[in-house]
Amino acid sequence: MNKNSTKPLNLFEYEKLAVECLSQMALDYYASGAWDEVTLRDNRTAFERYKLRPRILVDVSKRNFATQILGQPILMPLLIAPMAFQCLACPEGEIATARAARSSGVGMVLSTLSTKSIEEVADSCHSFDTASDVKPEAYRPALQWFQLYIHKDRGLTRALVERAYTAGYKALCLTVDAPVLGRRERDRHNEFVLPQGLQLANLVNMSGLNIPYQAGESGLFTYFAQQLDPAVTWKDLDWLQSLSPLPLAIKGILRGDDAARAVEYGAKAIVVSNHGGRQLDGAIASLDALAEVVKAVDGRAEILIDGGIRRGTDILKALALGAKAVLVGRPILWGLAVAGEAGVARVIDLLKDELDVAMALSGCASVEDIDNTILTATGNKSTTE
Ligand code: GLV
Repeated sequence: MNKNSTKPLNLFEYEKLAVECLSQMALDYYASGAWDEVTLRDNRTAFERYKLRPRILVDVSKRNFATQILGQPILMPLLIAPMAFQCLACPEGEIATARAARSSGVGMVLSTLSTKSIEEVADSCHSFDTASDVKPEAYRPALQWFQLYIHKDRGLTRALVERAYTAGYKALCLTVDAPVLGRRERDRHNEFVLPQGLQLANLVNMSGLNIPYQAGESGLFTYFAQQLDPAVTWKDLDWLQSLSPLPLAIKGILRGDDAARAVEYGAKAIVVSNHGGRQLDGAIASLDALAEVVKAVDGRAEILIDGGIRRGTDILKALALGAKAVLVGRPILWGLAVAGEAGVARVIDLLKDELDVAMALSGCASVEDIDNTILTATGNKSTTE
């Protein structure tokens, strides 16, 4: 970035600025992947392996990328991915993120491991709905999902689901790629733990749970080993769905057969994801799993994807391969670290602008115009062949 310009023009520039704003422990926690971080890098380079095949002489004078996810309208096909401990980035943490998502008209998935509670985050958007300075035309329905980790304590898990339902969250997003926590070596070196004053806001009143300190270990790894249930299987999905009427999204699927099975067990949405490269290093890039999942699901559930999305063209490519929307993770934290709620809103705005230009240049006026004929994988011919 030019030294005279302080205004980041893209998500990579936000990342550079965020590095200056975060403690080493927070930065490493957010940025790291598992082991050699091969999957973390591959999530990104997978997007570069696909090239666009623009359509010409299409009227793109009016462009619109509004869509619906499980029946809820959003202004662009983007949700903020569930990410733990956002108060490490700024004091308002998940509340700032939720308010930016709400004012930008995108969705947000709140993590079980948030540092603001289910209720605080929901309420911050409700009060926004009625704030006198919000003009009616600026009204945006808040699309909030709750991300769930199934704890060994099923009573605690049940209470989380009931609280999310009561607070108005629109879906449960069950993470299924973390029976144990992936090995993130930077966090081990740092003996990752939450700084004083921060806590697991959803769990603290229920059981006094918090991230433990353990010498030579990431406290989060220890938390997972002690509290989360590695014995969860498909059979538990019936129980989970009996706890509330919320539709179920399953996050962390990388195979067509698992995706088809998830649909058979009642999932209404699938999030193709390798947890941002933070779980099984060497797992395939999310984008490389997308086409197989879309084919196996065959329209029976909505498909979303996360991992490596940094440009509007990445969103375009994911939609061309059959995703209904994308989830964006780390860049949101970079925006949060740099400028709180305004930083998150700006990161979303940058992606919005890039998607708008990318669609115009590809001959797509709306998300319905985006199909797999606008894409080709490097070395292949069109994906339609
Ligand atoms: C928490 O879910 C993490 O991946 O760090």
